[in-house]
Amino acid sequence: MDALITVLPGDGIGPEVAAAGQQVLTAIAEKYGHKFSYSEQLIGGAAIDAIGNPLPPDTVASCRESNAVLLGAVGGPKWSDPNATVRPEQGLLAIRAELGVFANLRPVQILPQLAGASPIKSERLRNVDMIVVRELTGGIYFGAKTRDATSASDLCVYERHEIERIVRVAANLARNRSGKLCSVDKANVLETSRLWRDVTSKLIATEFSDLNVEHMLVDAAAMHLINRPSDFDVVVTENMFGDILTDEASMLAGSLGMLPSASIGESECGLYEPIHGSAPDIAGQGIANPCGTIASAALLLRYSLHLNEEADAVEAAIRQVIADGKRTADIAVDGDQVLSTQAMTQAIVAQLEQR
Ligand code: NAI
Ligand code: MG
Repeated sequence: MDALITVLPGDGIGPEVAAAGQQVLTAIAEKYGHKFSYSEQLIGGAAIDAIGNPLPPDTVASCRESNAVLLGAVGGPKWSDPNATVRPEQGLLAIRAELGVFANLRPVQILPQLAGASPIKSERLRNVDMIVVRELTGGIYFGAKTRDATSASDLCVYERHEIERIVRVAANLARNRSGKLCSVDKANVLETSRLWRDVTSKLIATEFSDLNVEHMLVDAAAMHLINRPSDFDVVVTENMFGDILTDEASMLAGSLGMLPSASIGESECGLYEPIHGSAPDIAGQGIANPCGTIASAALLLRYSLHLNEEADAVEAAIRQVIADGKRTADIAVDGDQVLSTQAMTQAIVAQLEQR
């Protein structure tokens, strides 16, 4: 098939991991006889430096005409002055809104060989296989903001239809997995969460009464994720809670650098990115873990291009390389062979070519 993919490297380790994802997509195209074209565009701090706008119009135009978008990460200390009026993260929020990708799917799978890289006891990690469905275009990240010298505010708003559509995505996923859905909110304190729980309950009662649904408060969810992670299957939650809980969940997998995400919505064009940020502490050193981005490229193949066999091949190649004992520094424990971002990517590409 022919596909146009917009690549948004961004800042920090973003360009390093986005290049890895693109390399793997190119290897897939060669192996399976597809023709992928790439349009590389600016976003975040790189775009602020170039034209003063974290989401240039050319970037939006390119994404709109693409079949899918692969993104690295944005942000960094250079653009983090508290008084700055333009910020890299505005570009990220804006492209999510522009593309209408309201559902951010974050699968959390544990490779048994990485149990030693996790701070959690390995017996707790057995049978962990969950997917967190994070609402991505509403809530407090998108509400009106104010700040003066003495006070500040961030408004959290959710509309009924925004809750319904994200819960529907999660419920359909749950139906195709174990039938178990956990909705996470803070309904004991927040009005948006009380609406969330009410809408979720009604939707489940009318459309998904076959599912086994549990409502959980976010603070308890943070604890149970670590204490009994294998009890979770599909988790659905609002924007900020999903952001925080998945960084926490990444510790089950061994590193933030392992986890991918797929952001999908009404259109076929999805946005695919690792769940981590720009990691300024390791940027430019060539040591970032590319697996989260490469696994995001697999999700791109699956969800936007409907190339399931190709997606499976990428995921299998990552698993095999890890099984062979190859590691980036973040997932290495004593005695492991530590590879650079490029060498790890090459190993995954070589594995793909062999299959
Ligand atoms: P971060 O996710 O960039 O890094 C947290 C820690 O995880 C760091 O120690 C980093 O070295 C490590 N890490 C992250 N990805 C890694 C990888 N692939 N391989 C190895 N280690 C990895 O979060 P942080 O440091 O809080 O934020 C840095 C910047 O990134 C901020 O400007 C923040 O706003 C931005 N950010 C951007 C996101 C995005 O573009 N989607 C998401 C989260 C944060
Ligand atoms: Mg995050």
